[in-house]
Amino acid sequence: MRRQTRRQKLAMMLVVLLMAAGLSLAASAQQAPDPGRLWTHITKSSPYTQWDHWPGHVGMQPGKSPHGELHRVFVNQQALSSSAPAASYGSIVVKENYDAEKQLTALTVMFKVKDFNPKHGDWFWTKFAPDGTVLASGKPGPCISCHSAAADNDFIFLHVL
Ligand code: HEC
Repeated sequence: MRRQTRRQKLAMMLVVLLMAAGLSLAASAQQAPDPGRLWTHITKSSPYTQWDHWPGHVGMQPGKSPHGELHRVFVNQQALSSSAPAASYGSIVVKENYDAEKQLTALTVMFKVKDFNPKHGDWFWTKFAPDGTVLASGKPGPCISCHSAAADNDFIFLHVL
């Protein structure tokens, strides 16, 4: 009898644990922004081409692999006004990637979303083709592991927060 009670307790604990895991999964799915909406935001609601640049990093600049030979980086007000790591929530950094012929090859975007990925700075990473096709989004391993070299500066290379 006693053994059964223990088993029942264990079973209950398991149920509770599974429910908690399910809930947290649902929550993280809810928090994941939709890359299509992000594209609409940065191209229509608040066109990034009208945003500012990091100070001292204006216009087309030479870049490094894997991003391309040249780039232009645009930042919204939340990013621009962040004066220490971490950047404010709502910050968006849009990087236009160009090849040596100045052809736009991709847009890589960092979007700071509360509780999206606390282990890695809560950045939502997206790579778009120039026509808005989503090539990568969320927590892509390559973006995070390479940018981790700048983890002390909230994963941002080109500007000291
Ligand atoms: C192998 C390293 C590496 C990988 C992988 C990488 N990046 Fe970068 N990223 C850089 C470097 C270096 C810079 C600085 C600019 C440059 O040299 O082109 C940069 C700059 C940026 C910037 C401008 C903000 C800043 O950090 O200064 C954004 C936005 C960005 N990357 C997004 C992404 C996204 C999104 C991905 C994944 C799809 C990605 N990066 C993958 C190395 C990397």
